[in-house]
Amino acid sequence: MTHRAESAVKDRYGAAASAQEPALCCPVEYDPQYLKIIPREVIERDYGCGDPSRYLRPGETVLDLGSGTGKICFIASQVVGKEGHVIGVDMTDPMLDVARRNAPVVAERLGFANVEFRKGRIQDLALDLDALEARLKTRPITSANDFLEVEALADELRLKQPLIPTDSVDVVVSNCVLNLVDPRSKRLLFEEIFRVLRMGGRAVISDIVSDEPVPDELQADPELWSGCISGAMTEQGFLAAFESAGFYGITVLKRDAVPWRTVAGIEFRSVTVEAFKGKQGPCFERNQAVVYRGPFKEILDDDGHRMQRGQRHAVCDKTYQLYSKAPYAGQFELIDPLSEIPPADAKPFDCSRSVLRHPRETKGLDYNSTTEAAQCCDGGGCC
Ligand SMILES: C[S@@+](CC[C@H](N)C(=O)[O-])C[C@H]1O[C@@H](n2cnc3c(N)ncnc32)[C@H](O)[C@@H]1O
Repeated sequence: MTHRAESAVKDRYGAAASAQEPALCCPVEYDPQYLKIIPREVIERDYGCGDPSRYLRPGETVLDLGSGTGKICFIASQVVGKEGHVIGVDMTDPMLDVARRNAPVVAERLGFANVEFRKGRIQDLALDLDALEARLKTRPITSANDFLEVEALADELRLKQPLIPTDSVDVVVSNCVLNLVDPRSKRLLFEEIFRVLRMGGRAVISDIVSDEPVPDELQADPELWSGCISGAMTEQGFLAAFESAGFYGITVLKRDAVPWRTVAGIEFRSVTVEAFKGKQGPCFERNQAVVYRGPFKEILDDDGHRMQRGQRHAVCDKTYQLYSKAPYAGQFELIDPLSEIPPADAKPFDCSRSVLRHPRETKGLDYNSTTEAAQCCDGGGCC
């Protein structure tokens, strides 16, 4: 199915770049203020199912996987502004032609240029297909040896001039594309998303998912493949794929209650999921503690920390920092020790078990202070 599915996708989206195909999109409401400067041919060839661009911030470097005619990139360009940068990647030439033709038009209307489109397969974000094509023009393949040499050339390009370098992107977005990648490449795809993100970066992905596994006979239908049906992952499989690739804080930002389509009793709907990179790395003891505020009695994070509501849990400096930021910010009380342990003096912390931290550990065993009642805010007194 692999190559048949990929060429079905290329054929269908190649045609959909020059003539609008309504069956390929599920209606999405984009923020109208960003659509004003985007040329009509781009807007008309919208084959998305969600809007990851609404979760972007000024100044960010954004990578859009399967950018099509460029709509999400041109919206993102306005959100991230002059200081930000947007890269669209697609494998289908007619889609790239429309996007590249319209990039200078959008830049002129906007007053700055911060968008570019690169040719590649999203499950292999290191390989620059334009660079490979340029080299192949001078080196046509006529024998098995040539083929092996081209494989070596591709490896060299991946290493020396990657399409998207490792740790280079703040946010990876995608709108209705991951389902089009064949199942055998899906693990690689999630690993690639993880690779290109910098530590602290995040993925915000809108895609079609199913409520039941898609049976083999539906998967074998190239029409349903290119129509965003056959390759859909199950809702739980989609979230688990982020987890397996090493992401944390995986959150469903939006889930359509009404399915986009139902085929053979299986519901296909759009979801938008956010996932963060940054839980990897060493754990150090700086005597910090956190208290989970609730409302759940107990929670389990992606690093295996189990926290009971209201309990003072010992955490390493990395977990402490992660809990202070999105998507956890506000869920925990963050408690610093009375005497700070400088990072250079911090000893390794065993993050494999969940332990409580006595208040005396935070304050120090010698702490013996007695104070007057603290002045409460709102002008009133406490008690
Ligand atoms: C459903 S359209 C979505 C286009 C765009 N994101 C939008 O919102 O309109 C899918 C796009 O992904 C591209 N695509 C599909 N599989 C791909 C792959 N493995 N690598 C790169 N691009 C791919 C197609 O060429 C097409 O432009």
